[in-house]
Amino acid sequence: MSRLQRILVTGGAGFLGSHLCERLVKDGHDVICLDNFFTSQKSNVQHLLDCSNFELIRHDVTHPLWLEVDEIYNLACPAAPGHYQYNPIKTMKTSVMGAINVLGMAKRCHAKVLQASTSEVYGDPEIHPQPESYRGNVNPIGPRACYDEGKRAAETLFFDYHRSNGVNMRLVRIFNTYGPRMHPYDGRVVSNFIRQALEGQDLTIFGDGSQTRAFCYRDDLIEAMIRMMNGPDDFVGPVNIGNPGEFTIKQLAELVIELTGADVTLVTRPLPADDPTQRRPDISLARERLRWEPTVALREGLGKTIEWFKSIDLSTFRPPTPNF
Ligand SMILES: NC(=O)c1ccc[n+]([C@@H]2O[C@H](COP(=O)([O-])OP(=O)(O)OC[C@H]3O[C@@H](n4cnc5c(N)ncnc54)[C@H](O)[C@@H]3O)[C@@H](O)[C@H]2O)c1
Repeated sequence: MSRLQRILVTGGAGFLGSHLCERLVKDGHDVICLDNFFTSQKSNVQHLLDCSNFELIRHDVTHPLWLEVDEIYNLACPAAPGHYQYNPIKTMKTSVMGAINVLGMAKRCHAKVLQASTSEVYGDPEIHPQPESYRGNVNPIGPRACYDEGKRAAETLFFDYHRSNGVNMRLVRIFNTYGPRMHPYDGRVVSNFIRQALEGQDLTIFGDGSQTRAFCYRDDLIEAMIRMMNGPDDFVGPVNIGNPGEFTIKQLAELVIELTGADVTLVTRPLPADDPTQRRPDISLARERLRWEPTVALREGLGKTIEWFKSIDLSTFRPPTPNF
């Protein structure tokens, strides 16, 4: 195991951030979770509050930070379309000013910093699967641009701080990830389908359901992020992290119906603007450099996620925006 570190996780109360904090606390590190709770709730990290190596700070990453740490995982950013499109200017600020603030802190205290980037930097890709060398097909003025271009600008900042200031950084491009603690009202396809099925509602498919996505279970993703942070300093990324297994949205819907046993059917709605038709990671680089690949099959991961959705009280979750 790596030496014990003081680690800051921004967005640490979110879906992925809370699992990352949990893992780092379990590994004995001194963990600071920072979040403004825009798309998350304290219950995600409540079970960690009694741990002597865990601290929780309410703070917005668009404002400067002043902490002494050895490592930073920068996850703070609304990630689901209904969340990031609610206040697109704030989304862009969170990506860009958040990156400047964590990079400034990393520079000052010589911390290693990992950026949670996204497959959205590839936009609506023209090549499949997408390798890291693909430069993307993003509409800079569309409704998804606040997120896609914000994350692209953050990537630029990470590489410029690395080249110009010698900041020790890592960059991972995360593809669709799902699992327990996804916000039930985040509007993402997995949470939508499960919530609808458990509530006995028909599952809403946007378009004809032939568009494809690849789904990575959260434990696989967290393992990859930690391997990347602890990997050699000459491998900064970007590196794709995701599950290359490709499914149509219709196949996903049918699997959710089968696993929940719900007596529901599928209803279709028009496809939103700039929705990618196909998305699948090329993970050759992660396989080679991180010795990593996903281990959890969709059926197994969905089963665990459905069990978690059954265990929660939906009335305790506040939809963060009206856009879900
Ligand atoms: N889950 C995925 O499929 C996926 C895919 C690609 C990239 N990512 C990236 O991973 C990170 C985590 O995503 P997630 O799925 O856990 O989403 P999430 O919405 O559950 O987590 C994001 C967290 O950041 C916090 N946050 C948002 N704006 C903030 C701000 N200005 N200051 C402080 N905290 C702020 C939110 O309250 C939330 O707790 C994000 O950066 C996202 O872009 C996730």
